Amino acid sequence: MIKLVNVSKEFRQKNNSILALDNVNINVSKGEIHGVIGYSGAGKSTLIRCINLLEKPDKGQVLYKDEDITRLKESDLRQRRKKIGMIFQHFNLMPSRNVYENIAYPLKKERLSKEDEGRIIAELLEIVELEDKELAYPSQLSGGQKQRVAIARALANRPEVLLCDEATSALDPKTTKSILRLLKKLRDELDLTIILITHEMEVIKEICHKVSIMERGKIVEQSDVVSIFSNPRSEVTKEFIQTTSNKNKLDEILSGSNNTFGLRNDDILARVQYVGDLANEGILSQASRLFNIEISVLFGNFDVIGNTPIGELIVFFRGEEEGVKKGLDYFIQKGLKIEIIKRNGEI
Ligand SMILES: Nc1ncnc2c1ncn2[C@@H]1O[C@H](COP(=O)(O)OP(=O)(O)O)[C@@H](O)[C@H]1O
Ligand SMILES: [Mg+2]
Repeated sequence: MIKLVNVSKEFRQKNNSILALDNVNINVSKGEIHGVIGYSGAGKSTLIRCINLLEKPDKGQVLYKDEDITRLKESDLRQRRKKIGMIFQHFNLMPSRNVYENIAYPLKKERLSKEDEGRIIAELLEIVELEDKELAYPSQLSGGQKQRVAIARALANRPEVLLCDEATSALDPKTTKSILRLLKKLRDELDLTIILITHEMEVIKEICHKVSIMERGKIVEQSDVVSIFSNPRSEVTKEFIQTTSNKNKLDEILSGSNNTFGLRNDDILARVQYVGDLANEGILSQASRLFNIEISVLFGNFDVIGNTPIGELIVFFRGEEEGVKKGLDYFIQKGLKIEIIKRNGEI
């Protein structure tokens, strides 16, 4: 549906230049919710603005349904842009116009009859669940309601793609969830393709199918969401994932001087990751019995992404060296991912 091929964009200023996009490739299929995550300044907004050509790439192609839209005349581009709606962090509503007028704004050029316009807007208000706010002004709405108005406005021209630039970043967690639910509903009911920019891994986890991780203008990792969470490769990805678990707390405790868990010098401490259902297998108790060692869980974190359970345990192994080694091998045989975080008293 949307494809970026080797897209680069540089911002030149008087005495320095910034490579905001560095050879970016991305491929978003129809009906996909594609997340783009990265720290501030990574190039996310530039990336999304290149998709609707609000920003013109220096190099590369932007394909919309296999057509390179960087080559279109301005008038043709305007037509294509209607098929690509956009919402923003700060909603960008017009304060002096009411909800109806804000949503009607992009329809102005369509020369619709009052009845047709009214019908379309009533439908849009129903989709975003704001039927009773038609005459309210933006200042009378909560953040979540404002974003719903912005979504209705973005949908007015019946786009096939919706670009969301930090659309939930100004909202509290509960409102964020309700907006994400709405986006999911739009994708299901209107067959919308969604590209969603965020700096919060929670958002990715909640609704995305695929994710691209950006750092300094580059996409450093790109995959389906389950793989990203179960097998992150780049450092940034790991950092983002850590923010969604309270493992930092554990790291603090482990590196602290007081031995909170009563660990012994020859205990082996390992991070165990699993995808799917571990509980049914009873791997911990099996290994413990088979090799006559003690295995205890210090920390557990569990999540369901899409429909796949993903878990992480911090476990210590205690016992004869040979038994512990066999225990670790046993975990690996069972398809678990193991990373030793402490051995011989060293973290
Ligand atoms: N219009 C512009 N002129 C100059 N530099 C810009 C412009 N837009 C973005 N940049 C720079 O490009 C880099 C990427 O910015 P941006 O795409 O907004 O990142 P993000 O959305 O990930 O925070 C930043 O260093 C930013 O300062
Ligand atoms: Mg941005």
